[in-house]
Amino acid sequence: MAVELGDVQETLLIPLLGRALDAEAKQSILGDQKAVELVDALDYDFTRFRGPSLMGSVLRASIFDQYVRDFLARHPDGTVVDLGCGLSTRFDRLDNGRVRWFDLDMPDTMALRRTFFGDHDRYAMLDGSLFGEDWWDVVSGGEGPVFLLSEAVLLYFPDDEVRDVLRRWGARFPGSPVAFDTGGSLMMRNQDRNAVFDSIRARMAWVCDDPSSLESLGLKLRESRDFGRAQASVARRWPLKYRLFASAFRWAPFVTTYKLNLFDIPE
Ligand SMILES: C[S@@+](CC[C@H](N)C(=O)[O-])C[C@H]1O[C@@H](n2cnc3c(N)ncnc32)[C@H](O)[C@@H]1O
Repeated sequence: MAVELGDVQETLLIPLLGRALDAEAKQSILGDQKAVELVDALDYDFTRFRGPSLMGSVLRASIFDQYVRDFLARHPDGTVVDLGCGLSTRFDRLDNGRVRWFDLDMPDTMALRRTFFGDHDRYAMLDGSLFGEDWWDVVSGGEGPVFLLSEAVLLYFPDDEVRDVLRRWGARFPGSPVAFDTGGSLMMRNQDRNAVFDSIRARMAWVCDDPSSLESLGLKLRESRDFGRAQASVARRWPLKYRLFASAFRWAPFVTTYKLNLFDIPE
């Protein structure tokens, strides 16, 4: 299957490869066999991706998974919206048999996604931009609250666009949790040294050194984690080498610059 994707869309192949490599490891964190199948099926030179960001995307996914698990434990009939889902298999990992789940991404990504995944009664794929508003009514109106999740997407957009969309979500989704990652100036300054970006065009643009500064947009920060501060139940499942790395470099600026945040939108 040929891969024709826009610049930011192409970055979805990085976490996909990360999850496939993890699935083939002796101690897999996510056990994402579907990622292996997808990497095999895509006509794309995955050897261009190397470096720690591959495994970083798996650690990241495991932390975000736990945010969603915690939400579903409290709201089993709630709605989850994964904005910029790429070829993620999070629904398959976390489905509790009751959640209503929407995966949204740009039309070219979704066209690719639809060749491997199908909608069913509680799961739907939506074409669109997270900056748009046409998905808002579609995801609303379920039994429980709506959890908004956007993993490794907002980072690629300019500060004013990100702040504007967070402000609009804050006004439109009172009572919703919102999870997304932020990168500080150290991470952004050094991205050209990140080997996964060697042969792709996309670059991250949004610098956020302090996630609590986003509270002025109408969000309340509940948790801000990094790889040195994963949930205990999550870190326990990581292979020893990652746990050792996470605790040895807990205070290192290259670890604390990248944060995985969970906000609440006040009622
Ligand atoms: C680094 S990938 C992350 C994919 C997925 N969240 C994951 O972690 O596997 C970035 C994703 O953002 C998506 N994307 C780019 N622009 C977008 C937009 N305006 N709205 C929604 N998704 C977008 C891309 O198609 C791609 O799937």
